[in-house]
Amino acid sequence: MTPPPRSRRTAPVKTFSRRTVFSGGLGAAALTLAACGDRAAPTEVGGFAPPPALTPKAGQNVVTQTLAAAPTTVDLGGKTVSTWAYGETLPGPLIRATAGDLLRITLENRLPETSTIHWHGIRLHNAADGVPGMTQDPVEPDTSYTYEFVAPDPGTYFLHSHVGLQLDRGLYAPLIIDDPDEPGDYDAEWIVTLDDWIDGTGQTPDEVLAALTGAGPSDAGGMDHGDMPMGDDGPGGMDHGGMPMGDEPWGDAGDVAYPHFLVNGRVPEAPEIFEAKPGQRVRIRLINASADTIFALALGDHDLSVTHSDGFPVEPVTAKALYLGMGERYDMVVTVKDGMFPLVARPVGKPSGGQGLAVLKTGAGEVPAPDVQVRELDGEVLIGSILEPAEASRLEDRAVDTELELAFQGSMQPYQWAINGAPYGQNTPLSIRKGQRVRIIATNQTMMSHPLHIHGHTFALPSGLRKDTVMMAPMESFALDFDADNPGRWAAHCHNAYHQEAGMMTEIDYES
Ligand code: C2O
Ligand code: CU
Repeated sequence: MTPPPRSRRTAPVKTFSRRTVFSGGLGAAALTLAACGDRAAPTEVGGFAPPPALTPKAGQNVVTQTLAAAPTTVDLGGKTVSTWAYGETLPGPLIRATAGDLLRITLENRLPETSTIHWHGIRLHNAADGVPGMTQDPVEPDTSYTYEFVAPDPGTYFLHSHVGLQLDRGLYAPLIIDDPDEPGDYDAEWIVTLDDWIDGTGQTPDEVLAALTGAGPSDAGGMDHGDMPMGDDGPGGMDHGGMPMGDEPWGDAGDVAYPHFLVNGRVPEAPEIFEAKPGQRVRIRLINASADTIFALALGDHDLSVTHSDGFPVEPVTAKALYLGMGERYDMVVTVKDGMFPLVARPVGKPSGGQGLAVLKTGAGEVPAPDVQVRELDGEVLIGSILEPAEASRLEDRAVDTELELAFQGSMQPYQWAINGAPYGQNTPLSIRKGQRVRIIATNQTMMSHPLHIHGHTFALPSGLRKDTVMMAPMESFALDFDADNPGRWAAHCHNAYHQEAGMMTEIDYES
């Protein structure tokens, strides 16, 4: 897509809202990491023009909606929590459009702090991307901001706040872009959004981060990783001191001990019940909106035919179960049997907090127990990055013009996360030029797994698989290719909200 022209940014003043320390803990003299007790990434104040208003083309459909972000209480299913949410619901209200439509969505910020909305996975023009200090000024309390953009690619997406840890409150909602040309070979559609939940149960996500960074009470939410001293194992290496590395294949999978795991905003004691008829083909659109939790997902007694990854069609694969990293989406089609079936989202590497549950009801039966086990999760669980793209999802074959490195680094103790040697605000943006075929060599130099998310582009893995968020296991690396066809300043970060907030983010800039 060609983004609309926008005025050149004037050099903004950088203000750093967090305390900066020099730490030898990561073993590299050059590595400077922030102690991330304070919130928010570096903010550039006042450098951004208001978003350009778009005029619909003749015949172009316009989807208009308002999302009010506000403090509220939500019922998770017999358990009520105070949190921040859109439209007082959890997840927030569904936004749905057809590819090519003009979306005109207004954020009304009734929160006590600034906010923004990011349209995760949508290849939209830069000014609508919702990253404070990078693509817009943060939206102040009691003001509103209208995002206008065209969504070029059909698929399953979601939207969320891109300020601080607001994603780990209730500030997320599903976003579906329908394909005007798709036959829609299914009878029913079930949108399934997964989340890990702590807000309003005694701690806020900000208090959890403060505990992780040592700036707050140490018992708040943090998982016990054992008290492992940091070794001196080179830049960014994370030494877990011979500790067991947790579940295969993700190693140390998360940092936060959540009391609840939600499916469509419900605890497993009061699951959502989705009704269909036996024999129907149900398209399930899966979204992992959690901040710190990878899930293994299965539907009891059913095979899953996985059809899309991050919105883009794949060569369909039949699986019993699949993993979803934070920010990933998968679509699948299931021919449903007769009865009551648990859809189980088992958190990976989380010893407490139970599991996520929803129920497919096509006939008689009992509602499954909150801790129901499904045998589909006993065997092999599909790792999405091994999927093959559908022909239509492939990038055109061409030579790579520029190769850039993006290395994930960091440690649990101290709680410091970085890209290319420094946290966001201190690392150097990756620089590309319009028209290039770009290759990013992404490496995970830690013993945790991290979902890498790149804004504004849908990259191809070496297999050709298109994704915007890819799970990277400990020490794993990927060559990620994309065409530089969407000028602007784009965020690239770990989609673990705590890692991102602690610095695991960088920027990809187009040279002008
Ligand atoms: Cu869904 Cu920059 O994130
Ligand atoms: Cu991470």
